[in-house]
Amino acid sequence: MGLPDGMSTRARYFRNRLNTGATFRTGLRRAGLAGAALALAALSALVAPLAAQAITDSRADELRHLVRQDCGSCHGLRLTGGLGAPITAEALEGRDPDDLALLILDGMPGTAMPGWRPLLEENEARWIAEYLLKGDQP
Ligand code: HEC
Repeated sequence: MGLPDGMSTRARYFRNRLNTGATFRTGLRRAGLAGAALALAALSALVAPLAAQAITDSRADELRHLVRQDCGSCHGLRLTGGLGAPITAEALEGRDPDDLALLILDGMPGTAMPGWRPLLEENEARWIAEYLLKGDQP
């Protein structure tokens, strides 16, 4: 009964090709959706405030250490100024933490203040900005 073997094999072959085509098209449509979702995620990551992700306790320790050692090497042991301006809470009073975070990340071109992007994530720079503004450093 039915089709000779050769025929049914070819029929199955074409049916599979058709199915593959359909799967490929749904795949494309899904990829398009995933692409849009990715683009949206990237966009909201850009718009999200710098402080979006929390800092772990151990990373906070490292950042405090960095402020004392690295920032302190130019801004003074007590951050009251040296080669760099004072960056105590009093000196920075009223400054916007996001502005300070960007200043820390990008540095101040034309001055000795380096950019810290190679070492700090944006939320970490924002953490340091708030840390400086709070003024509870040693
Ligand atoms: C190599 C020296 C150097 C290091 C290291 C350094 N700074 Fe600076 N920084 C400067 C100098 C110099 C200025 C002042 C530039 C000017 O106003 O002419 C400055 C300016 C600043 C200012 C702006 C002060 C103001 O009143 O606008 C902030 C905030 C600051 N630094 C934070 C930091 C932090 C946080 C770190 C550590 C992550 C750091 N700096 C490390 C040299 C340094």
